[in-house]
Amino acid sequence: MPLDPYTDDDLNYNNPQSRTSLEHNDPEAVVELISTYVDGWDDYEVIFLGYPIWFGQAAKPVYTFVANNDFNNKTVIPFCASGGSGIGTSDQNLAALSNGGGMAGGDAFFKQRIRF
Ligand SMILES: Cc1cc2nc3c(=O)[nH]c(=O)nc-3n(C[C@H](O)[C@H](O)[C@H](O)COP(=O)(O)O)c2cc1C
Repeated sequence: MPLDPYTDDDLNYNNPQSRTSLEHNDPEAVVELISTYVDGWDDYEVIFLGYPIWFGQAAKPVYTFVANNDFNNKTVIPFCASGGSGIGTSDQNLAALSNGGGMAGGDAFFKQRIRF
Protein backbone atom coordinates (compact mmCIF):
# COMPACT_ATOMS: atom_id res chain seq x y z
CA MET A 1 0.00 0.00 0.00
CA PRO A 2 1.23 3.50 -0.80
CA LEU A 3 2.46 5.47 2.20
CA ASP A 4 0.51 8.41 0.85
CA PRO A 5 -2.92 7.00 -0.14
CA TYR A 6 -4.41 7.99 -3.48
CA THR A 7 -7.44 10.24 -3.38
CA ASP A 8 -10.14 10.21 -6.04
CA ASP A 9 -8.56 13.32 -7.54
CA ASP A 10 -5.17 11.59 -7.61
CA LEU A 11 -6.72 8.74 -9.59
CA ASN A 12 -8.31 10.98 -12.22
CA TYR A 13 -6.49 9.83 -15.32
CA ASN A 14 -8.36 12.38 -17.42
CA ASN A 15 -6.54 15.21 -15.66
CA PRO A 16 -2.99 15.53 -16.98
CA GLN A 17 -2.04 17.27 -13.72
CA SER A 18 -3.37 14.56 -11.39
CA ARG A 19 -0.90 12.73 -9.18
CA THR A 20 -1.14 9.49 -11.17
CA SER A 21 -0.66 11.37 -14.47
CA LEU A 22 2.40 13.19 -13.16
CA GLU A 23 3.86 10.01 -11.70
CA HIS A 24 3.26 8.16 -14.95
CA ASN A 25 4.97 10.85 -16.99
CA ASP A 26 7.99 11.05 -14.69
CA PRO A 27 10.29 8.06 -15.15
CA GLU A 28 12.12 9.08 -11.98
CA ALA A 29 8.99 9.08 -9.83
CA VAL A 30 9.02 6.53 -7.02
CA VAL A 31 5.88 5.81 -5.00
CA GLU A 32 6.82 5.00 -1.44
CA LEU A 33 5.00 2.01 0.04
CA ILE A 34 4.14 1.26 3.67
CA SER A 35 6.11 -1.96 3.22
CA THR A 36 7.54 -4.10 0.44
CA TYR A 37 8.26 -6.98 2.81
CA VAL A 38 6.65 -10.38 2.22
CA ASP A 39 6.91 -12.89 5.02
CA GLY A 40 8.70 -16.06 3.88
CA TRP A 41 9.61 -14.53 0.50
CA ASP A 42 12.71 -16.69 0.05
CA ASP A 43 10.62 -19.86 0.30
CA TYR A 44 8.37 -18.98 -2.66
CA GLU A 45 9.31 -20.34 -6.09
CA VAL A 46 6.32 -19.02 -8.02
CA ILE A 47 5.02 -15.50 -7.61
CA PHE A 48 1.63 -14.43 -8.95
CA LEU A 49 2.03 -10.72 -9.47
CA GLY A 50 -1.31 -9.00 -9.99
CA TYR A 51 -1.83 -5.31 -10.58
CA PRO A 52 -4.17 -2.80 -12.20
CA ILE A 53 -3.20 -1.24 -15.51
CA TRP A 54 -2.65 2.49 -15.30
CA PHE A 55 -1.98 4.34 -18.53
CA GLY A 56 -1.27 1.07 -20.30
CA GLN A 57 1.36 0.01 -17.75
CA ALA A 58 1.49 -1.50 -14.27
CA ALA A 59 0.28 0.89 -11.59
CA LYS A 60 3.30 2.81 -10.37
CA PRO A 61 3.29 1.50 -6.78
CA VAL A 62 3.94 -1.99 -8.19
CA TYR A 63 7.29 -0.75 -9.49
CA THR A 64 8.42 -0.06 -5.93
CA PHE A 65 7.44 -3.55 -4.86
CA VAL A 66 9.30 -5.18 -7.75
CA ALA A 67 12.39 -3.04 -7.32
CA ASN A 68 12.64 -3.90 -3.64
CA ASN A 69 12.29 -7.66 -3.75
CA ASP A 70 14.69 -10.29 -5.03
CA PHE A 71 13.13 -12.20 -7.93
CA ASN A 72 16.19 -14.24 -8.67
CA ASN A 73 15.28 -17.88 -9.41
CA LYS A 74 11.57 -17.22 -9.14
CA THR A 75 8.91 -17.89 -11.74
CA VAL A 76 6.72 -14.84 -11.94
CA ILE A 77 3.23 -15.03 -13.38
CA PRO A 78 1.91 -11.55 -14.02
CA PHE A 79 -1.77 -10.81 -14.40
CA CYS A 80 -3.68 -7.59 -14.51
CA ALA A 81 -7.03 -5.91 -14.11
CA SER A 82 -7.89 -3.11 -16.50
CA GLY A 83 -10.68 -1.11 -17.96
CA GLY A 84 -10.21 -2.94 -21.23
CA SER A 85 -6.62 -2.70 -22.38
CA GLY A 86 -4.42 -5.77 -22.05
CA ILE A 87 -1.29 -6.45 -20.10
CA GLY A 88 0.67 -4.97 -23.02
CA THR A 89 4.33 -4.35 -22.25
CA SER A 90 3.71 -3.87 -18.53
CA ASP A 91 5.23 -7.21 -17.55
CA GLN A 92 8.32 -6.66 -19.70
CA ASN A 93 8.85 -3.26 -18.18
CA LEU A 94 8.61 -4.68 -14.68
CA ALA A 95 11.10 -7.37 -15.65
CA ALA A 96 13.51 -4.73 -16.93
CA LEU A 97 13.09 -2.80 -13.71
CA SER A 98 13.87 -5.88 -11.67
CA ASN A 99 17.16 -6.21 -13.50
CA GLY A 100 17.95 -2.64 -12.59
CA GLY A 101 17.15 -3.56 -9.03
CA GLY A 102 20.04 -6.02 -9.00
CA MET A 103 18.14 -9.14 -9.97
CA ALA A 104 20.06 -11.91 -11.71
CA GLY A 105 18.53 -13.87 -14.57
CA GLY A 106 16.09 -11.15 -15.51
CA ASP A 107 15.47 -12.64 -18.93
CA ALA A 108 13.60 -15.49 -17.32
CA PHE A 109 11.73 -13.26 -14.92
CA PHE A 110 8.38 -13.68 -16.60
CA LYS A 111 8.36 -17.19 -17.91
CA GLN A 112 4.65 -17.24 -18.47
CA ARG A 113 1.92 -14.77 -19.11
CA ILE A 114 -1.73 -15.04 -18.31
CA ARG A 115 -4.20 -12.91 -20.21
CA PHE A 116 -7.77 -12.44 -19.11
C1 LIG B 1 -4.82 6.35 -13.02
C2 LIG B 1 -5.54 5.26 -13.75
C3 LIG B 1 -5.19 4.95 -15.04
C4 LIG B 1 -5.84 3.91 -15.72
N1 LIG B 1 -5.44 3.60 -17.00
C5 LIG B 1 -6.05 2.57 -17.66
C6 LIG B 1 -5.63 2.19 -18.98
O1 LIG B 1 -4.70 2.75 -19.56
N2 LIG B 1 -6.28 1.17 -19.58
C7 LIG B 1 -7.31 0.50 -18.97
O2 LIG B 1 -7.86 -0.41 -19.56
N3 LIG B 1 -7.71 0.83 -17.71
C8 LIG B 1 -7.10 1.85 -17.05
N4 LIG B 1 -7.51 2.17 -15.78
C9 LIG B 1 -8.56 1.38 -15.14
C10 LIG B 1 -7.97 0.42 -14.11
O3 LIG B 1 -7.12 -0.52 -14.73
C11 LIG B 1 -9.08 -0.27 -13.32
O4 LIG B 1 -9.78 0.69 -12.64
C12 LIG B 1 -8.49 -1.27 -12.36
O5 LIG B 1 -8.00 -2.37 -13.09
C13 LIG B 1 -9.43 -1.75 -11.29
O6 LIG B 1 -10.61 -2.23 -11.85
P1 LIG B 1 -12.01 -1.75 -11.24
O7 LIG B 1 -12.03 -0.26 -11.40
O8 LIG B 1 -13.05 -2.45 -12.06
O9 LIG B 1 -11.97 -2.18 -9.82
C14 LIG B 1 -6.88 3.20 -15.11
C15 LIG B 1 -7.24 3.55 -13.78
C16 LIG B 1 -6.59 4.55 -13.11
C17 LIG B 1 -7.00 4.89 -11.71
